[in-house]
Amino acid sequence: MNTTKTEQWDGLVLGASLATLDGTDGYGEIIDGALGWHDGRLSYVGPRAGLPDDPATLAREVIEADGWITPGLVDCHTHVVFAGDRAREFEQRLQGASYEDIARAGGGILSTVRAVREADEAELLRQSLPRAKALLADGAITLEIKSGYGLDFDNERKMLRVARQVGEILGITVRTTYLAAHALPPEFRDRPDAYIDAVVDWLPLLHAEGLVDAVDAFCEGIGFDPAQTRRVFEAARALGLPVKLHADQLSDLGGAGLVAEFNGLSADHIEYSSDAGIRAMAGSGAVAVLLPGAFHVLRETKLPPLDALREHGVPMAVATDCNPGTAPLLSLRQAMQLACTHFRLTPEQALRGATVHAARALGLQDRGVLRVGMRADFVQWQVGHPAELGYWLGGTLAASRYANGRRVG
Ligand code: NIG
Ligand code: FE
Repeated sequence: MNTTKTEQWDGLVLGASLATLDGTDGYGEIIDGALGWHDGRLSYVGPRAGLPDDPATLAREVIEADGWITPGLVDCHTHVVFAGDRAREFEQRLQGASYEDIARAGGGILSTVRAVREADEAELLRQSLPRAKALLADGAITLEIKSGYGLDFDNERKMLRVARQVGEILGITVRTTYLAAHALPPEFRDRPDAYIDAVVDWLPLLHAEGLVDAVDAFCEGIGFDPAQTRRVFEAARALGLPVKLHADQLSDLGGAGLVAEFNGLSADHIEYSSDAGIRAMAGSGAVAVLLPGAFHVLRETKLPPLDALREHGVPMAVATDCNPGTAPLLSLRQAMQLACTHFRLTPEQALRGATVHAARALGLQDRGVLRVGMRADFVQWQVGHPAELGYWLGGTLAASRYANGRRVG
C-alpha cells in the first residue's frame, strides 16, 4: 500500500476521483480514488481498491464524497490587501484614458495608496478579508499577498501585518511579498533614488518582524528602472530573501533577464519580454507567472511570448493578480479560464499553472500535487472532469476545501 504511516490517519476521503497532477503531464487521474492524511500530510493517494476491505478503520474521520479532488490551488500573485476600489477609473479608461495616463495624473496605484494610508489596520483587514475569502471559496488554499500600497514604513508594515492576519484567520498559508518599490509616493516626487534608499532601509526591519517572505518590484516606465530594481534585489539577496518581479508588463526593460540574473522565483506579466529574457529564465529555472486578468481588463493586445516559453520549457504559472486597478478578479479558477481563452493554455496546463507551477513560483516544494508526504491541501469539486475547472466562467464548483488536513472556507 502506498502509505507512509501505519497508525490511524486523521482523515480519509473515499468516492471521489483524483487529479493528482503527479508526473510531468496529464491530470494524473485516479478514478474512484481515496485520499488519506495524517498530521497535515497526505498518507494515502491511490485507488479506493488499493485500501484494505474495511477502510472505515483506517482513519478517525472517513468522508464519502463524489466529484473530483485536486491539489489546493495556489494563487501566487495577488494584491488582495488594499482599501477602496477604482471602479471610477475603470470608467475613465473605457472613456479613453490609458492606465499610464491615469497613473501619471496621480491616480492609479497612488489613489489606492491614499485609501490604504487612511485606513487603520482593523479597517484594512475588514475590507481585505472578504476578497481573500472569495479566493479561498473558489479553491485557493495558498495565497501570496503583496504590500505596495503603503509606500512608507508604517503603511507597508500595516499591509504586511494584515496579510499575515488573513492567513491566520482563514487557516491557510499566506506568503507575503514586500513590494514597496511599486510606485513613487508623493513625498518622494522626482527623487526616485532617494525613495529606493528608503525601500532598502525598511526591508531588514520588516524582515526582522517576520513579515517578509519574498521581495518584488514594478520595473516599468511608470515604476522603477532596472538599476533601481537591481538595488532592491541586492538588498533582498543580502538577507537571503528570494525575489520576483513585475516584469516587462507594458514595455521591455529587460525584467525577465534581471530575474534570471538574481535566480529569482518568477517573472510576472512578461507580455513584452524578449526571447533573450525568456532564454535566461529557462537557464535560471524561474517561473513565468501569467496574469490573464490584467491582460483582459487592460484590453492588452500584446500576448506574452508563449511560443518562446514553451520552446524553452519555462514553467507557466497562472495567478489572479487580484488588485483594484488592473485585475478586480476574485477567482483563480476564473484566471485559469482567461489563461485558456487568451493564452491558449489547455485546462490541464492552466490547472498545473495554478498548482504545481504556482507553488514553485513561491518556492514551496511541499504542495501543488497530490502525493504521499505532501501537505494535505486539497479541494473537492462538483465536476464531472477536471477540465471543467478551466472551462466554466463563474459558478460555484468547490464543494469542500482542506488546508493542512483541516477543513477551511
Ligand atoms: O500587477 N503592475 C503593477 N501592479 C499591479 C497593478 C496595481 C494597481 O493598478 O493597483 C499589477 O497589475
Ligand atoms: Fe501585480
